[in-house]
Amino acid sequence: MGKIKKIGVLTSGGDAPGMNAAIRGVTRTAIYNGLEVIGIRHGFQGLINANFKPLRSFSVSDIIQRGGTILKTARCEEFKTPEGRLKAYNNLKEEQIDGVVVIGGDGSFTGARIFNEEFDIPFVGVPGTIDNDIYGTDYTIGYDTALNTVVEAVDKIRDTASAHNRMFFVEVMGAEAGFLALFGGIATGAEAIIIPEIKGEARNLKKMIETGNTRKKSSNIIIVAEGDEEGGAFGIAEKVKDDFKDYDIRVTVLGHLQRGGSPSAIDRVNASRLGNAAVEALIDDQKSVMVGLSNGEITLVPFRKAVKLHKDVNHSIVELARILSV
Ligand code: F6P
Repeated sequence: MGKIKKIGVLTSGGDAPGMNAAIRGVTRTAIYNGLEVIGIRHGFQGLINANFKPLRSFSVSDIIQRGGTILKTARCEEFKTPEGRLKAYNNLKEEQIDGVVVIGGDGSFTGARIFNEEFDIPFVGVPGTIDNDIYGTDYTIGYDTALNTVVEAVDKIRDTASAHNRMFFVEVMGAEAGFLALFGGIATGAEAIIIPEIKGEARNLKKMIETGNTRKKSSNIIIVAEGDEEGGAFGIAEKVKDDFKDYDIRVTVLGHLQRGGSPSAIDRVNASRLGNAAVEALIDDQKSVMVGLSNGEITLVPFRKAVKLHKDVNHSIVELARILSV
């Protein structure tokens, strides 16, 4: 038997649909390989407070279809301090945990990377965030479900927008990333999409909308990523309102409803694969790496790269959005 006998698993940062499927994938793979599994509750805070509970195979029954995370999550300030990380290390040693799977976003991987520079207990990451903004993986857990939630919501907004001949600015999540906005906009036939990766797009709005309105459109939907420099949907609507004096404007912020809900089939399957791959990586003596999906295959990406490098949107898809909205 290898040197890993007992692993911990935690979820950290913003929750994402499919995190439970990943926890299940980790737990069942570990048990299959003869390892013990400890669930760490409330993210890194649970490491610092020794908030541990053993997970058995039945502990993860009936969770693959549930949103949120059975282990709870948190954004933990204390783990950013050397003292906090030392407490975490001592608790892991005491519990005889030989490796940890961290399911979260780049903030979580930053903490995990620093910990692995200081201490000898390996951490392996599983990308989980609805923003899909992690370098080194085509996909993050929760993105597909959130995208479908955006599409369902915007389709409904389209109904009322058309009924009243209105212009809507719809804000979607994506801290500093436009993936949800771009794909959500294409999937709903948005007239314009404003994302942080493409600067100055708000200035072209008048031209884009006027082109469409020569075809007498009965509604206009502009999707705005929350992290846009112009200040989100309310900020942009305010800035451009003089250009659109003849329009009846409304603003909708989709907000946290995008984070909830039962995970899509894609999120369940990918989360299961990534959870499985993370445990295999620990068994193979990997540390300070994230498991990712690239062209449908599992990859290993050093935390160093995953947190430092920027994942850009595909510019041919940005161009596609422009072409489709003429
Ligand atoms: O999970 C990422 C994210 O959804 C971002 O898009 C958003 O800015 C952020 O979380 C908001 O999270 P919270 O309200 O939990 O701080």
